[in-house]
Amino acid sequence: MQQAIAILDSGVGGLTVAKEVMRQLPQEKIIYFGDTARTPYGPRSPHEVIEFTHQIVDYLLQFQPKMIVIACNTATAVALDEIRARLSIPVVGVIHPGARAAIKTTQSGKVGVIGTEGTIKSSAYELALRQISPHIQVVSQPCPLFVPLVEKGLFRTDQTRSVVEKSLQDLRQIPMDCLILGCTHYPFLSDVIADVMGPNVTLISSADETAREISTILYHKGMLATSNPMPVHQFFCSGDPAMFKKIAQTWLNEQIRVTPVVWQVP
Ligand code: SIN
Repeated sequence: MQQAIAILDSGVGGLTVAKEVMRQLPQEKIIYFGDTARTPYGPRSPHEVIEFTHQIVDYLLQFQPKMIVIACNTATAVALDEIRARLSIPVVGVIHPGARAAIKTTQSGKVGVIGTEGTIKSSAYELALRQISPHIQVVSQPCPLFVPLVEKGLFRTDQTRSVVEKSLQDLRQIPMDCLILGCTHYPFLSDVIADVMGPNVTLISSADETAREISTILYHKGMLATSNPMPVHQFFCSGDPAMFKKIAQTWLNEQIRVTPVVWQVP
């Protein structure tokens, strides 16, 4: 099936998922939308995030994708069920795959979660983790300053190091053996986060597990792409295309074309 997989995020964070999909499913064409004009979603109300997610999904539907991937934890937490109920194609979020990966990894049963204010407030990870393993101990912490750093391309600067150190100083004191990066932007900062948390804490990004879930669903539905060795991906963003392109090309390690989408930004 040659229709694309549509991936959406509030900005560049979903590229962590897109990259893993490209690696695990190299024949799949991807259409990516980053809502960079309205990032970050973390401090916004659930109502607003739901509205934005519907708007992006409506935009992406013009390309008749075979699947929608909500590669944004904040949007997954509040909008996944509504979008699933509305569409007849498969809709995948990033929270359950991240929770599953953490359960597979933890030996101690003590798991940390960092995410945006919206994601942490929703308790979506706690619920997903406890659904799989009721006795898991979970400690959560919002890190609202991380997404703006990533959207500016500041991955390894002194400022980044200092923000990460300050944001994680309390969490570092709590025993845990794995930490869920509960925001798709955070893998961009994983070198610094790993350094600050120390060698005994494994970082969990939902990207690998989400790509595996996409692969499993497409396989079981007979929807995997075949005979498409060089898919041409498409990238759209609502903010500055130059910044998006710079970050995306560095992260994906390939040249891309970005189409700006202009819409009313509240
Ligand atoms: C955000 O826009 O605040 C972050 C996106 C995410 O939660 O993955």
